Amino acid sequence: MQRILITGGSGFIGTNLIQSLLKNKCIVLNIDKLDHTSKFTNLFHPSNDKNNYIFKKLDILETKKLSSLINNFKPNLIFHLAAESHVDNSINNPKVFIESNIVGTFSLLESVRGYLSKNNLKNFRLINISTDEVYGSIVGKKKAFENSFYNPSSPYSASKASSVHLCNAWVKTFDLPIINTFSANNFGPYQSPEKLIPKIIINAINKNDLEIYGDGKNIRNWIFVKDNAEKLISISKRGTLGENYNIGTNIYKNNLEIVTDICNILNLIQKDKFNYNTLIKFVKDRPGHDLRYAINTEKYELIFKKKVYDFQKSLKQTILWYKNNYRWYQKLLNNNILSRKGLI
Ligand code: NAD
Ligand code: TYD
Repeated sequence: MQRILITGGSGFIGTNLIQSLLKNKCIVLNIDKLDHTSKFTNLFHPSNDKNNYIFKKLDILETKKLSSLINNFKPNLIFHLAAESHVDNSINNPKVFIESNIVGTFSLLESVRGYLSKNNLKNFRLINISTDEVYGSIVGKKKAFENSFYNPSSPYSASKASSVHLCNAWVKTFDLPIINTFSANNFGPYQSPEKLIPKIIINAINKNDLEIYGDGKNIRNWIFVKDNAEKLISISKRGTLGENYNIGTNIYKNNLEIVTDICNILNLIQKDKFNYNTLIKFVKDRPGHDLRYAINTEKYELIFKKKVYDFQKSLKQTILWYKNNYRWYQKLLNNNILSRKGLI
């Protein structure tokens, strides 16, 4: 039976990934420090422990405890997701991004190195979850390939690029079996209301201003989180060790288009005959705001079967989820989670 360790499994992607993994025969150990968001929202609370799911609250910076958890659990697969993940927060408080994302990854790599030196595991692999933001803003119609150089703009993306460099060095020097993945912007259930799509949905439902940074022309590639989770699982099974894989879709939209899509869906599904587009407001731009993320995903698609989630359907599903799950994010709203962050 597969023994799967997930770091950061109480966050957005981790929650969706664990839900997908638990559909199959496996045992999952989730290690998460429960940060400012997931301490209120994490779905996989200790009281939810089942036979095949274990949760341990731990900061991955605590290398000794992390090593002993790994040595006792004896995983044959690790998904490394633990990270500070919001660009705006990285502008206000970069230090914690350096600690969790860089030093935290170092702590995990050293723990895994110790574990593998004591155990002869032929099929072990570590999947390091990174982001398309490491490539920085991509000009014109170009797309970043897996071997494109890293050109990060924010403390967040710089810390994620650094963690990939560490992983690659541990592959080359210590022969650790690692695969890096570079995902586009995810959306879907269980995402922190700090991020664009949930923030816009929650503000719109409450008829608050829908704040778009700058002129709204910044382009992102969008992937439904369930699609991303399935792709991560298939890479963990069939990806080549030491390789990097971009994970994305053909959905490219600027922020004004995304916000307009959300408003148009709400105009149809809400019964109040209100025009949600009238809430749109342009506000001061984010410092260092990348204009365009774009990745070439052929490497993944050549090897693995493509499964396409319809964007509009997934977006509507996400809007309905936030409409129906107020209790999930209610406590966060008391903590100013929707207030503007990332201004210097
Ligand atoms: P998230 O912020 O929702 O979840 C991250 C989780 O990691 C949180 O539960 C947090 O408590 C935990 N964590 C942070 N630092 C930790 C530490 N030092 N020790 C233990 N746990 C810690 O983020 P997410 O959107 O689920 O992203 C997960 C991973 O995927 C991150 O590595 C992120 O960089 C990457 N990623 C995210 C996206 C996206 O669009 N959300 C896209 C590409 C890559
Ligand atoms: P975000 O969800 O923070 O993801 P990332 O910065 O990692 O791509 O933001 C997505 C885009 O939306 C980004 O271009 C910034 C923009 N944005 C807004 O215009 N308004 C907002 O309130 C937020 C949170 C983001």
